[in-house]
Amino acid sequence: MATLAQTEQDFTRLPDLPAEVFTAPLKKPDRVGDDWLEPEQTQYSSDDDAIWNDLFQRQMKVLPGRAASAFMAGLDKLDLSRGGVPEFGRLSEELDTLTGWSVVPVPMLIPDHVFFWHLANRRFPAGNFIRTRETFDYIQEPDVFHDVFGHVPMLTDPVYADYMQEYGRAGWKAMRYNRLKALGSLYWYTVEFGLLQEADGIKAYGAGILSGPTEVVYATEAKSPNRIMLNVDRVMRTDYVISDLQPTYFVIESFEDLYRQTVERDFDQLYKSLGPGFTYANTAVIDVDHVVNHGSLEYTLRGGRGSGAAPA
Ligand SMILES: [Fe+2]
Repeated sequence: MATLAQTEQDFTRLPDLPAEVFTAPLKKPDRVGDDWLEPEQTQYSSDDDAIWNDLFQRQMKVLPGRAASAFMAGLDKLDLSRGGVPEFGRLSEELDTLTGWSVVPVPMLIPDHVFFWHLANRRFPAGNFIRTRETFDYIQEPDVFHDVFGHVPMLTDPVYADYMQEYGRAGWKAMRYNRLKALGSLYWYTVEFGLLQEADGIKAYGAGILSGPTEVVYATEAKSPNRIMLNVDRVMRTDYVISDLQPTYFVIESFEDLYRQTVERDFDQLYKSLGPGFTYANTAVIDVDHVVNHGSLEYTLRGGRGSGAAPA
């Protein structure tokens, strides 16, 4: 079988992972193959569909005027408001007509190299389960609501769709250099928590923001967080928190700019220049930054989620 280096430009098949390349030790359920795809999508109950509908309605109270227009347009194009957990077959047909993407069910978080491979082939892996009423507000692992409601509408935008594929194509190289954390920061601050400058203000396009009720308002309107124009090199050197609101967001001027900044950067050179352990703190504003809002960091300094501080 081919190695990561040999197959860096050949995404037709999964390569063998060399022993020295780190990957999280995930336990693969017996029913899934090397591609980690579920044999079929879960048959959701009417209670599950009701959870989807309630989550959907909750988001629709906060998203208009705060979510990127491309995201709102994507919800419409895919008719995601029709009710119940979407059926992936139909969703994929519609997405295929628009941008050539599909949505595929996976049991859980999947190994990095497999995830990259699906993205490189314009397949978006989505969790094959939905949260319960008990975990309605916060879940550790991304479920079908986060993955489909949060991510899939943006895949109807042609330039964003190309960016996601390029992101996947960049993955194996990051693994080979052992710089997955740097590439992960880029995903975090764009795909999950990205902001976009639109004519009438700053809007959110990141799925981590758009799939929950609190961060949508905080990310776009609160005084606490820093908002800094995206610079790929800077972002890939920046740390991030996974279980609280972000102290800093990065803003793009357009999806074209995001795409261009990413494909034009020579990642070989970048990875060679990165110290293995170095990152900027996620609260830092540094001299190269083009700052949109210098945040008060009040929410973070008061102790964040655990302290009961208001996300103001
Ligand atoms: Fe996500």
